[in-house]
Amino acid sequence: MAKNANLGAAKNAKNDEFYTQYADIQKEVNAYIEYNPDVFRGKTILLPCDDPEWSNFTKFFAQNFEFFGLKKLISTSYAIESKKYKTDWQPTLFETENPLYNVEKSRIKGKIFTLTHDTNNSGRIDIDDLQWSYLEGDGDFRSAEVTALRDEADIIITNPPFSLFREFLAWIMEGGKQFLVIGSMNAITYREVFPPIKENKIWLGTSFGSKTYIKIDGEQQKMGNTCWYTNIDHGRRHEPMKLMSLEDNLRFNKKLKGQPNYRRFANYDAIDVPFVELIPNDYDGIMGVPLSFLEKYCPEQFEIIWRTGDIDWALTECTFFFPPTKEDSERYKKKDRTWRVQNPYFIGENSLPETCYFRIFIRKKQ
Ligand SMILES: C[S@@+](CC[C@H](N)C(=O)[O-])C[C@H]1O[C@@H](n2cnc3c(N)ncnc32)[C@H](O)[C@@H]1O
Repeated sequence: MAKNANLGAAKNAKNDEFYTQYADIQKEVNAYIEYNPDVFRGKTILLPCDDPEWSNFTKFFAQNFEFFGLKKLISTSYAIESKKYKTDWQPTLFETENPLYNVEKSRIKGKIFTLTHDTNNSGRIDIDDLQWSYLEGDGDFRSAEVTALRDEADIIITNPPFSLFREFLAWIMEGGKQFLVIGSMNAITYREVFPPIKENKIWLGTSFGSKTYIKIDGEQQKMGNTCWYTNIDHGRRHEPMKLMSLEDNLRFNKKLKGQPNYRRFANYDAIDVPFVELIPNDYDGIMGVPLSFLEKYCPEQFEIIWRTGDIDWALTECTFFFPPTKEDSERYKKKDRTWRVQNPYFIGENSLPETCYFRIFIRKKQ
């Protein structure tokens, strides 16, 4: 158990250090610029948990400073000594050859990089105009000095440490800022993340499962199932899905395998739609759809009602729960250990309950 816990902690520490590729940042940010060319004009952008010596967010925004019409770019990095994942890190020449270099501070202090104007008189504002200094502390986003930078900024953009995603999102929301951040797709189900998604206060970005790699110790590893979380508007979310009627789906869609109808839940008044493309465009009741629905979610087309795994909602909305008796419970537990009593279920073969996969419950907007 202790060994597993250690392995888990090591994996988390390593996942906190994966670096975002320039092309992935470019692709996502371009979607917001396409929708609103002035989205960043006159704005101060803060890139916390970053480091222009190693990562691409600062490079990307510094190179596009003039094109985006930014007022100010600030980025902060986290001290090497504070990182959970230990490497044989050495300071870069950028740092050691700079008159500001301080051998003691180098390992224990975070850094702040700012860009506001053409400092080297090259005729343009770019990455070479970045000014830097050591922070007072280690650059932890939760510190008072980085929080003050958050408050100064209009928009927060980064790929925060995965293990602190909940805290990071709460930190941004508390500041009431616009943001664009990368997180695990699983975070959608977090109790801190799903409610604001349901209320259209935050939504998913435009690219999914981006090709991001861990680049620690030279090792490259694909990170699966990531997505962007944001509250900045983009065009994709206003494009309604093109869907067929219920009758046409039943008649023509092979995924329904000749079923006479969509499955209904036994304890909740809703139909189950196991694939997003099977959502009927003419069904007025509640539908359970898979998580991937959020990649295509258009708030003008559907409203989100709730999700599986939310016990408070289920207790008021679901009519009854399985197992009705202790013997049933024992029988069932042996068959399916993933059973969660707070979820809707189907009645399957032999009149036994069957769990459903994670579902988001939606309804067509009138
Ligand atoms: C997933 S990496 C992403 C780095 C960079 N933003 C990028 O996308 O390429 C997250 C970074 O946050 C740093 N970090 C970890 N805990 C932190 C904290 N409490 N405050 C600030 N940064 C932290 C990690 O050391 C790592 O450099």
